[in-house]
Formats: sequence, C-alpha cells, structure tokens
Amino acid sequence: MTPSPILESHRSFNFSSGPAVLPVEVLEQVRNELLDYRGTGMSVMEMSHRCKAFDEILEQALAGIREALSIPNDYEILFLQGGASFQFSMVPLNLALPQQPVDVIHTGNWTKMAIEEMKRLTVAHVVSHSTESTNFATLPDLTHYHPAANTSYVHLCSNNTIEGTQFKTFPKTGAIPLVCDMSSDIFSRPLDVSQFGLIFAGAQKNIGPAGVTLVVIRKDLAERAAKNLPTLMQYRSQIVAGSRYNTPPTFGIYICGLVMNWLKAKGGVTAIEKANAEKAALIYDVLDHSAGFYDSPVPQSVRSPMNLVWRIAPGASNQEALEAAFVKEAASQGLHELKGHRSVGGLRASLYNAQPRAGVEALASFMREFARKNG
Ligand SMILES: Cc1ncc(COP(=O)(O)O)c(C=O)c1O
Repeated sequence: MTPSPILESHRSFNFSSGPAVLPVEVLEQVRNELLDYRGTGMSVMEMSHRCKAFDEILEQALAGIREALSIPNDYEILFLQGGASFQFSMVPLNLALPQQPVDVIHTGNWTKMAIEEMKRLTVAHVVSHSTESTNFATLPDLTHYHPAANTSYVHLCSNNTIEGTQFKTFPKTGAIPLVCDMSSDIFSRPLDVSQFGLIFAGAQKNIGPAGVTLVVIRKDLAERAAKNLPTLMQYRSQIVAGSRYNTPPTFGIYICGLVMNWLKAKGGVTAIEKANAEKAALIYDVLDHSAGFYDSPVPQSVRSPMNLVWRIAPGASNQEALEAAFVKEAASQGLHELKGHRSVGGLRASLYNAQPRAGVEALASFMREFARKNG
C-alpha cells in the first residue's frame, strides 16, 4: 500500500473524535477492491459472512489484532455490535457477581455513562476514585490502589476522549479483573494485555469504521455469565460462534483488518506511539507557549496524545466568540472538526494513529497565526 499524493491532496484534515480519519492507503485499497474483491466478482459488502473469502477476512483481522497487541492465547477477540456504549451494559451483565460491587474509577463522561447503566441494571457499584471535583481535568493516583477483596471487577477508561486525559500506567488489581474502555487509545501504544480481564473499544477511532465493537476478553471470565442471559448478550455465545452467532458487521471487519496491516507496515504500536507523541507535542507546544492566549486545563503528566483539549483566552468576555471564530477560520483552511464536545465546550483536536503529521503541522501553524492576530 503506497500513499497516493493525488488522493491525499483532495482530503481535508479531519480532527474528529470519531468516527475519525482512516489511513488514506486503507481507503484506496478499499476503493480498489470495492467492486471485485480479489477475483470473487463481488464486494465484501455483498458476500455471505460464512463464505470462504470472508472466513479469510475474519481470520486475517483477528490475527492482525492479536499480533499488534501481542494478545495471549487465553484471551478471545470478539467483533460485536452496539458500540462501546453497549459494553456499559454487557460487561456488568456478564461479569458482575451477585452482591459483589463493581469498583469504578470515575474520570469523565464515559465512566459516567457506564455508571448510569450499572444503576439501571441495579448492579452494586462503588466509585472508589472520582476526579469530578476537578471537572475531570486530572486523573487519580492509583499507585497504592487495592480494590476490596469482594469486588466483582474494576472499571476504568484508559483515555478520556472528551476531557483529554490518559492513564499512562494501570493499577495492579491482582485477582480482581480490570475492565478497560479503550475506545479512544487502543492500538496507540504497546500494552500488556495480561493486566486486563476485558478490554473493549468502539472501532471508529483507531481501528476502523463505526459499527464494529472490539472486545478482548480473558476466556475464563466469559463463564461468569448466567446461562439464561439473552444469547446475544453473552460473551460466551459469541466466543463459541467465533463472533458469528448472527451476521457480524462484515465490511467494517474487513476494514479493521486492513487498518491492522497498515499499522504493521508503520512499525506497529511501538513506532506509532512515538509518532503520536511527536504529533501531540507539536500542539501542546503551541498551547504552552502562547503567553496565556490558549489554555490547556490538563496537567502535563496525564495529557492525552489522542484527544487534545483547550480553551482560548480564559476569563475573557469574548472567549466563546473567539472559539467560534477559531473553528470557522480553521475550517475555511481545511482543518475540520475542532469544536470541543458539546458537554464541555472549548476546542479539541483528535490526533489518532491515522492523523497525518502534515495535518498536525498545519493546525499548529494555524494556531500560532490565530493567536498572533487575536492575542
Ligand atoms: C472512551 C469512550 N467510550 C465510549 C464511547 C461510546 O462509543 P460508541 O459511540 O461506540 O457507543 C466513546 C465514544 O466516543 C468513547 O470515546
């Protein structure tokens, strides 16, 4: 897969938090294979999810994922549907033990949503750490964290997409499974999967298109679920069926496989972590050297390289007008989707794996120029 400068030049720089930018090489390959997938005479969209060609697509996507994160053999990889949000219900339905609480490390909007679902399901839960009092701008120090012995599992979000924070290390929870929502930073850095009982992620940031949900689960944990849970809500059934209990999101899975090939060609998660850190540093550097024009609320030690959030001219009466002007002017220069999440306002740039460095450089120079003109 060689990049096409022609196609690339017609693409805008897209800083959306998800669905997000995909590697142009992957899109080109999809385009080339769209009408006739490798001599089958049909599109992947049109083929049976049980045909030989799709068997290979699925196997290849699974192998790519396993290799990228060195996932041990006692973990199953599942392609599910319902988005990461469905996992907010599916995880407690399968892993919460009767009268044994789930411990939530509450660090933002997406753990709030997970807690809401636990409440609906009347799953016992505790919030042992919350950073709500800092508007979720910080993360708790979990160095000395030990969940209580009767905890069903610990729920944590590795990267807070809206608030722009990222855990750099994970707590050691011993025999108690650690469940991690990795929607917005999976495949962005090396990971010791054996620290986790279950990892889930919506595909639409670092894996592929919307509509696929990735779950990596330690096999024994799937046996916790009550046998009378609805079939599609059990990890167990999808493990037995190899993610094909029913029709899976075939086209999305195909693209996830291509993204894994692309990641491997880029040098895998170790190389991409370095590239991501360099891209993020370009923007954080502007934020930190703007003489107060820009303000990042997140302390350096927990800043996310995936989702960078900031405000303009904190305290100024024209703050919102300046931020609106920033978004509009940026878009007029081909830099799109820079508005912060509607729940927090401000500005946000998502710099996932596939975000080209050229886009980040263009954004950094636009930011400098905007500050010069309006500061
Ligand atoms: C960390 C995190 N968790 C969960 C979700 C929800 O994902 P979905 O829309 O796939 O349900 C998102 C979406 O942006 C997210 O960033």
